[in-house]
Amino acid sequence: MVESEALWREALYGPSGFFTRGEVPADHFRTAPLVGPELAEALLVLLDRVDFALGGPSRLDFVDVGAGGGELAEAVRSSASGSLAARLVVTAVDLGPARSVPGVRWRSALPTSVCGLLVGHEWLDAVPCPLVTGPSSHPWAARWWPVGEGERAEIGEPRDVAWADAVSRVARGAALAVDYGHVRADRVAGRYAAGTFAAYRGGRRVEPVFDGTCDLTAHVALDACAEAAGGDWVLVSQRAALGALGLVGAVSPGEPDWLAAAGRASRIAELRAEGGLGSFGWLLHGVGVPVSSLLPPLPPWRP
Ligand SMILES: C[S@@+](CC[C@H](N)C(=O)[O-])C[C@H]1O[C@@H](n2cnc3c(N)ncnc32)[C@H](O)[C@@H]1O
Repeated sequence: MVESEALWREALYGPSGFFTRGEVPADHFRTAPLVGPELAEALLVLLDRVDFALGGPSRLDFVDVGAGGGELAEAVRSSASGSLAARLVVTAVDLGPARSVPGVRWRSALPTSVCGLLVGHEWLDAVPCPLVTGPSSHPWAARWWPVGEGERAEIGEPRDVAWADAVSRVARGAALAVDYGHVRADRVAGRYAAGTFAAYRGGRRVEPVFDGTCDLTAHVALDACAEAAGGDWVLVSQRAALGALGLVGAVSPGEPDWLAAAGRASRIAELRAEGGLGSFGWLLHGVGVPVSSLLPPLPPWRP
């Protein structure tokens, strides 16, 4: 393993690493599950489409990989209703300490077989990878991120491997990675020539140090992850995907509980904001289920 990747891994997942000792995103940065229950609602619409395409199996999985504080898994469990809720098994997977979340099974390793929807929400950006300063002769760099003299880059291969492994565990259904990232055309054009490796602590961006005191992260080359996992997939923006799942968030005139409706509309606006959470990528793979049965045609992601 390249030294920078080993240092990053130790800092987050070593014996006293940032995530190993139980730090949760809520204390350090804001992720979409912390905004409110609306992301979970949209994912339940997606899960409902997966369920329909699978013909309503007797057990339907929702697996949250890199679950952090378990907020997304908890919101999916508590927002599910009807026949789907009765058949739903919610599993949270994280390398950090197990948490007690009502109705959610907690594991430290990915399940071997999933029938339903597997989601990695801001998981892959926390998968350590080699940091290089160009020129780099790494084959991944040659294919996905040519690095010129003095330029910095992150070699996304460990993310590709992690994502391909996660998708391979879906026996029937779909796998969704949601993250900030970039695509080859913009990397080649030099838009990320300074690299994207960064650190956060207590809600602020700080100087990266490998001592376990901060979260260490880098944008995800989601196009490379898509190709590594293969099969039937689409890569679209969160803004477009949420719209296609019915999360648009307007307040209708004459709304009886105007205050609640306005709060919901503002949370949806945050999830869909261009340049913010709305510019996150949604990489969706169908396994035994055509992706076209889950989302309508949408423009390709270009953050
Ligand atoms: C940036 S946090 C995201 C948490 C949550 N999904 C959210 O969006 O609020 C990344 C999480 O992924 C977990 N993680 C990283 N690699 C993992 C792996 N191989 N298996 C399970 N969890 C992992 C970390 O422990 C951390 O809790």
